[in-house]
Amino acid sequence: MTDKVGGNTVLVEFEEGIAWVSLNRPEKRNAMSPTLNKEMTEVLEALEIDDRCGVLVLTGAGDSFSAGMDLKEFFRESDRLPPEAWGQIARQAQIWQMQRLKNFPKPTIAMVNGWCFGGGFNPVVSCDIALAANEATFGLSEVNWGIIPAGNVLRSVALKMSDTNGLYYALTGDTFNGVEAAQMGLVKFAVPQAELKEKTRELAKKLLSKNRAAIRAIKHAWRKQEEMSWDASEDYLMAKLDQLRLTDPDKGRSQGMKQFLDDKTYRPGLGAYEKKE
Ligand code: ACO
Repeated sequence: MTDKVGGNTVLVEFEEGIAWVSLNRPEKRNAMSPTLNKEMTEVLEALEIDDRCGVLVLTGAGDSFSAGMDLKEFFRESDRLPPEAWGQIARQAQIWQMQRLKNFPKPTIAMVNGWCFGGGFNPVVSCDIALAANEATFGLSEVNWGIIPAGNVLRSVALKMSDTNGLYYALTGDTFNGVEAAQMGLVKFAVPQAELKEKTRELAKKLLSKNRAAIRAIKHAWRKQEEMSWDASEDYLMAKLDQLRLTDPDKGRSQGMKQFLDDKTYRPGLGAYEKKE
């Protein structure tokens, strides 16, 4: 693999285990074009197996997270395409926004730093944890130009927001800020813009300090159990537990028990065991 990850529309910067991945079309408020969607798919694929990425932070270059799908390049220029070609373009967006992000094998954090409209909600919901600037502006603006939040945006929103809030914002197209997004459960918390990057870094470092194999198993199990019956989920989670015990290269379970029960050097209720290299 080459050291360079990313293209013109996606910027990747590595910092001590954190991959800061930015939607990088600030002059277009990071609207998602077919080119960006393709490049983002490639970036996520590359970062899955890049050791420089222990945690992925998704954000936007400049003052925007993303102004949603590109009205010119994604929508208007697709109007003249045959349905198969349009289907391919639409699917490319779904592949990175939903499938790749939801199944990414390392923790993902959405850092919503500014404008976030329409299709921009998808990657926010698909990341494991989302944070926002108090000053960020969110909007389901589709209704404002006569379409519906397709591309599974409505479905994404319904995973996080109540009927009361989700339908209100989908029907009115009104905007809300980061503080309101946190109150409604769309993001975990919001902080002043000036503190957003540092708070995100703190969270990323906390995730990096945990057992990697356990983290991967937890996030996959969280997604999969949603689709299962109670009994199937119970069995699946037990199998996942056994799988982790056998495959964890760090043997976290043994280290944790030893450091708590024998060495008495830490308390699992209050933090992670010390990783021994
Ligand atoms: N698609 C294509 N181009 C866009 C988009 C977009 N979603 N958003 C912004 N741009 C472009 C503008 O056309 C403009 O291009 P130009 O400089 O070549 O004229 C440039 O980005 C800057 O946009 P402004 O509107 O001048 O920026 P401003 O900071 O004043 O406003 C805002 C930002 C509020 C985000 C505004 O650009 C906007 O409303 N954008 C559309 C938001 C939206 O409704 N997105 C679609 C959601 S629906 C969906 O995703 C399916």
